[in-house]
Amino acid sequence: MKWIDEAAYACAVGWSGQDCVTIYVGGIRFYKPVHIGDLVEVRSRLIYTGSTSMHIAVDVWAGDPRLNMLKQTTHCIIVYVALDAQGKPTSIPPWIPQTEEEKALRDYAVKLMDLRKGVEEEMRPFLHLD
Ligand SMILES: CC(C)(COP(=O)(O)OP(=O)(O)OC[C@H]1O[C@@H](n2cnc3c(N)ncnc32)[C@H](O)[C@@H]1OP(=O)(O)O)[C@@H](O)C(=O)NCCC(=O)NCCS
Repeated sequence: MKWIDEAAYACAVGWSGQDCVTIYVGGIRFYKPVHIGDLVEVRSRLIYTGSTSMHIAVDVWAGDPRLNMLKQTTHCIIVYVALDAQGKPTSIPPWIPQTEEEKALRDYAVKLMDLRKGVEEEMRPFLHLD
């Protein structure tokens, strides 16, 4: 999980040129185990930008380096917010999807955002933020 966060952070900082903080980590599912000695590849890519937020898809691939074949073990979406020197959310350059794949990923990010609203409503009674 540390590597996932670091890969997404690098992506967010690289895009925004600002310091960034995680505001949301969604739906981490560990599909397959990663064994000691496995080669691990953590791939992150920007799939949506709002005014101050960046939605980043992170995929983890791993496998025995002797077999020269990695399998996907994890996928999740992390949302980072760019911060100004005062620690307030600050605007970032928009990311405009170009390819069909990028457009599909942007649509996926938007759909997940909508779904999360329902999840967060369900969780609200169990939050004690004040
Ligand atoms: C990040 C932080 C400064 C944002 O401040 P805020 O006043 O809550 O944020 P805002 O309401 O201005 O929203 C900022 C952005 O976050 C997005 N956001 C807010 N809640 C969100 C959620 N639940 N999921 C995804 N994005 C969310 C908003 O849509 C907005 O993005 P946009 O400008 O692209 O539309 C504040 O929430 C914070 O400090 N959180 C703690 C962060 C932290 O400690 N992270 C480390 C965890 S290890």
